[in-house]
Amino acid sequence: MGKSCSSIVHAVQGSSTVAISDRARQLQQEGVNVINLGSGDPDFVTPQYIRDAGIKAIQDGFTHYVDSKGIPQLRKAIAEKYHREQGMSYDPNKEIIVTASGKVALYISLSAIVDPGDEVLLLEPAWVSYRPIVQLLQGVPVGVTLHVADNFLVTDEIIEKHVTKKTKAIIVNSPSNPTGRVLSEKELASIANIAKKYDLWVLTDDIYEKIVYDGRIHKTLAALPDMKERTIVVNGMSKAYAMTGWRLGYLAGPAELVREILKVQQHLVTCAASFTQIAGLAALAGGPQGINNMVAEYDRRRQLITTALNEIPGVTCPLPEGAFYFFPRVDYKDMNSMDLAKYLLDSAHVAVTPGIAFGDAGEGCIRLTYAISLENLQEAVQRIAKALK
Ligand SMILES: Cc1ncc(COP(=O)(O)O)c(C=O)c1O
Repeated sequence: MGKSCSSIVHAVQGSSTVAISDRARQLQQEGVNVINLGSGDPDFVTPQYIRDAGIKAIQDGFTHYVDSKGIPQLRKAIAEKYHREQGMSYDPNKEIIVTASGKVALYISLSAIVDPGDEVLLLEPAWVSYRPIVQLLQGVPVGVTLHVADNFLVTDEIIEKHVTKKTKAIIVNSPSNPTGRVLSEKELASIANIAKKYDLWVLTDDIYEKIVYDGRIHKTLAALPDMKERTIVVNGMSKAYAMTGWRLGYLAGPAELVREILKVQQHLVTCAASFTQIAGLAALAGGPQGINNMVAEYDRRRQLITTALNEIPGVTCPLPEGAFYFFPRVDYKDMNSMDLAKYLLDSAHVAVTPGIAFGDAGEGCIRLTYAISLENLQEAVQRIAKALK
């Protein structure tokens, strides 16, 4: 055996979105004027009142370990939010854990669900980290291919085809990174039907819940009839409050499972950082105005840039329904999405994420974030148009 690294970790791919951002940053440091449309980090700085709350917490010496579930005030605020927004009641002492990011919430939730060999369904194109997390836990990720031609519609039949005796859970993400789809009531009901029929866990990643357009209102799968007891909700502050660097998330689910998840949290990080939780509390208490302003700006960019992208020959870009990504199909000289992303970085100095990073179902598409300034977006689209001429 000797000194070899774990075959499980070795088999996992690094994050392609992080890799692209790192490469773009490196080029920028070398003096190349790269526009980075590869990352999911809002260009807004965290609102001032949230920063102030975090600073005050540090100055007040709130710098110790806290309750491993999260500070009670924040858990209570999260429970109140679910009551207010989704009509659900979560017990803040037994059904909610504050985590050091949405990613940690996902990892510890899945670690309490997945045994080696268990299959986990991913609705693909799916966010880049689900597959590796399932693999790290020795589960088997099973891609459920959604089709670009149907605007990535989810139906009972499409999911059911992939259910086997080993299927343990399904991961759902709406609004979706990368497709920008927001699942309709009918699609949510389809997923709920299958989960109930085959007695599956559902993990719903609602991190983009606040970023929806055209009057849509996000409804969590957990709120559907008889779904709360089989659903873990993963959420966080990164996207809604432009708090990516604070690393603050949370999860909510049935008490028996949350008790198991908490053990993993305690051994992994003990608790989420104390003073970021105070900032998170301020965020939740702050009302919707800050979020609404940011979403209005994303909306403006969404409309202008969708039109501009569709004017480029070979590019077909649906209007995103939520989140802050475009996921256009691009036909250019039969290039696959990876080669296209490399070509755009080298020739146009625009960093995008190849669709293949989100599973085979993403091939033919590229993902571009619009969480960057409109000016930079417009410049990026001009460069892409020139490169694809
Ligand atoms: C779909 C999705 N889920 C979860 C996360 C994790 O967010 P964080 O770990 O910053 O809370 C991201 C971040 O990009 C995401 O896009």
